[in-house]
Amino acid sequence: MAVDCEKNFDIKNLTSFKTGGKISEVFFPESVDEFVQILNENKDAKVFGNLSDTLVSDFGYSGKVILTFKMNNYKIEGTKVIADCGVKGPKLSQAVCEQGLSGFEFMIGFPGSVGGEICMNASAHSQAVSDKLVSVLCFSCQCGIVKYSKSEMGFAYRTSRCQREDLIVLQAEFELEKKNSEDIKSTMEKNLEFRKSFQPLLVLPNCGSIFKNPENDSAGRLLDSVGVKGLSIGGAKIWENHANFIVNHNNGTSSDILSLMYEMYTKVKEMYNIELEPEIKFLGGNNERENELWQILSKK
Ligand code: EPU
Repeated sequence: MAVDCEKNFDIKNLTSFKTGGKISEVFFPESVDEFVQILNENKDAKVFGNLSDTLVSDFGYSGKVILTFKMNNYKIEGTKVIADCGVKGPKLSQAVCEQGLSGFEFMIGFPGSVGGEICMNASAHSQAVSDKLVSVLCFSCQCGIVKYSKSEMGFAYRTSRCQREDLIVLQAEFELEKKNSEDIKSTMEKNLEFRKSFQPLLVLPNCGSIFKNPENDSAGRLLDSVGVKGLSIGGAKIWENHANFIVNHNNGTSSDILSLMYEMYTKVKEMYNIELEPEIKFLGGNNERENELWQILSKK
């Protein structure tokens, strides 16, 4: 099977932050079978959905990347939904709403894909992607294709077994709840209103929440209290309505964004002795200063 692969690929236009240089090799699978073939042949490749929560370095990445956003098949059978990892949250949210199915209302404001959302157990407005999950088909380099039930997935706030064991999500099955479409639509509209009021719109280059909430606290509240709102470095700025968002408003670089994250992290650490943990991921490695900053931020 010939798979779609680009060499020395300029990734900037595909990333949510609108940063990123050249990637040595990028694969674009369109089906689960193609994806598995690529994974088997390229065990060192890093997998992303549509890079909606990843900061990509302007200095590029010297390695292989698989982007799953072309894997956008899903099936709705009664209350059962089976979705490939690349299906985008807002698309799925709308599709199930039309069928009078509830459980994905929160996804309407998240640009991420099903695979990424499962991996980090995305949540908002008292709903999480794990709530209605039945099972996940995963790929692991050691075991190949494995199906895990929800209880085997080790879900917790912003994490799952996938993150701890380098498991790749291929496809997921959900069991949703029948509800009136109008009620579902109205919840989705409220969720979008919340997003518009407190969070930067998706058209502004941003990657959602920058840091995870520490246990029993809020990263946004902590950051706000140390006065970072509106702070900018180069073309990147901390959102004025919510201190846990960075917007790349004026052609900021990946280094601008990392430096801003470091400022946020340091200010909270100095004031509260709390070390915020990034929610976003970083793809890079070719610049020493960026590597240093990411090492401090991610403790890796
Ligand atoms: N707050 C401030 N100042 C700020 C920002 C927030 O005081 O600048 C306070 C708020 O007033 C509120 C508390 O902090 O009392 C929490 O803020 P918010 O309700 O905005 O929620 P959040 O914890 O910052 C989380 C998710 C969002 C999700 C919202 C809505 C995380 C890290 N973020 O935000 O998820 O949309 O709840 O449910 O858990 C994402 O993960 O990318 C994301 C956008």
